[in-house]
Amino acid sequence: GRAAPLLIAIDGPAASGKGTLAKRLALHYGLPHLDTGLLYRAVALTLIDEGSDLDDTGAAARAASALSAERLSDPRLRERAMGEAASRVSSVPEVRAALLSWQRRFAENAEGAVLDGRDIGTVVCPQARVKLFIIAAPEERARRRHRELLGRGEETTLAAILADIRARDARDSSRAAAPLKAAEDAVVLDTTELDAEAAFAEAVAIVERLKAA
Ligand code: DC
Repeated sequence: GRAAPLLIAIDGPAASGKGTLAKRLALHYGLPHLDTGLLYRAVALTLIDEGSDLDDTGAAARAASALSAERLSDPRLRERAMGEAASRVSSVPEVRAALLSWQRRFAENAEGAVLDGRDIGTVVCPQARVKLFIIAAPEERARRRHRELLGRGEETTLAAILADIRARDARDSSRAAAPLKAAEDAVVLDTTELDAEAAFAEAVAIVERLKAA
């Protein structure tokens, strides 16, 4: 018979390393990967491009409903300001509802899928057998993000990034609609003291244990 789909849900705060891990796990298991933060970033970018206010919930809901896949490869989505803008539109329940069906369709792939975000294990794919919640100390996350942005030629200070991270943690964790939190059955992986290689090895060990369970 056919193997059960391997659905891997990865959540965690900004710059925790969940994106890198999700990408590597997807490659390792031969599964498609969806970085769900990109969906929220694309909604924010649509509003900015059309000149709408980021707090215009009607415009945000329309942008989310009309979102097309081509938008997700826009390099501007990776900019620092877009993370902040995405965090703002992501608190709108109509935006979350519109993006939910998008994400669920992706997760229905017959072989399985890897999705990473804030509410994958709690809301988008509560049925996932494998749920990881990735954390790291804010200072370490700021150092990683700083290095990444410098590598892409974006000039910022470590202090500004740390302030961003703290503000985003607070907003993403305190919003009413699908706040950032670990699912009860998620395995928490703290990557503060781990490099990318060690974090990946830990994650694979957890996946192997959970998928067999
Ligand atoms: O993962 P990221 O930094 O690209 O996400 C940008 C913002 O999008 C994040 O601050 C909150 C929001 N987001 C969300 O609310 N739910 C998700 N599943 C993914 C992202």
